[in-house]
Amino acid sequence: MWVFEEKLEVPKNSMHYKSSEPVCQGQHNLTDIINALNENVKYLPGVALPKNIHANPSLEDAVRDSTILIFNVPHQFIIRICDQLQGKILPYARGISCIKGVDVEEEGVSLFSETIGKKLGIYCGSLSGANIANEVAKELWCETTIGYDPPHLDSKAPTPAGGSPSQSQVDLVSFEHKDSSGQYSKVKLRPLPTDYPPIDHALWWTLFHRPYFHVRVVSDVAGVALGGALKNIIAVAAGFVDGMGWGDNAKAAVMRVGLLEMVKFGTQFFGNSIETKTFTEESAGVADLITSCSGGRNFRCAKLSVQRGAPIEEIEKQELNGQKLQGTLTAADINKFLKKQGAEKDYPLFTAVHRILKGEMSVEDIPSHIEPKL
Ligand code: 13P
Repeated sequence: MWVFEEKLEVPKNSMHYKSSEPVCQGQHNLTDIINALNENVKYLPGVALPKNIHANPSLEDAVRDSTILIFNVPHQFIIRICDQLQGKILPYARGISCIKGVDVEEEGVSLFSETIGKKLGIYCGSLSGANIANEVAKELWCETTIGYDPPHLDSKAPTPAGGSPSQSQVDLVSFEHKDSSGQYSKVKLRPLPTDYPPIDHALWWTLFHRPYFHVRVVSDVAGVALGGALKNIIAVAAGFVDGMGWGDNAKAAVMRVGLLEMVKFGTQFFGNSIETKTFTEESAGVADLITSCSGGRNFRCAKLSVQRGAPIEEIEKQELNGQKLQGTLTAADINKFLKKQGAEKDYPLFTAVHRILKGEMSVEDIPSHIEPKL
């Protein structure tokens, strides 16, 4: 497991605070502390990690010989990480992105699963769900959704030779692939060697499913990834109205409007490849929305920012111990895209959250901004 390196002292909320272990005296690298104590004292204090998890500060080393890559980093770091990984991974590796954000560029909005896939020349699906990290770490029961729909081997393309080829021996093969706009196109990927077990829905299920972590695998990669990104904006809105003391009815109202905007965004900009039911029936949609608006970090920080009358960035620094909110960044990214499309007014809740964060609107204006016009 790759872990971003930093030096720190074992803090008071660690299970090992003041223990006699050498890493508990003075400052040490986070990776050395994790490996000595089996505890991520910075980001998951109080949780005993399985002994087979090894924290590695070298990205290159951590991915060496890995056939399966799981990307779980704040979304602002992923492009740089992919740049570093280019040419360093197995040619037939496959990935899953757990990143709850979207990649906004000049040409439009795309999913990090697609960005990772394109940059690394591998196929990458997505995982998202009602999965507040601390609860999952304590093995409290929850559900999640994996979206996986790899390109099918083009029957006219040459079949790769058998055996386990090394990177230099593997030629790119043409696959037919449906992208997030619903377009079919030919993409070039390195194929799995013929003696390699196929990575299909059953394998992902086997890898991730646990008695306390129930997995549903679907083919709607875009819906899974988008649900995880967009619900963070709504969680910020829920925090704002809760911070005002407006109660559960107000929170339910922003969740309802937000869910409709998620569905509208998916169908308007990701066309045929999205299935509305991913938002309304899967853990990656409505369930993640509910949990994030109840106890997620975006919700909590937005609520405190209203209660304390302080900017959310200040609350983020005070409360999150170096972790970064995804909702504030996603609100800005999505707004940039909607503005370009001339579609801000069609997404009143997403737009209101961004404007409040920018200081251009106040939380009191939310009800009038999202009310239906006769
Ligand atoms: P945040 O804690 O970042 O708001 O997200 C919670 C979450 O994604 C739960 O599934």
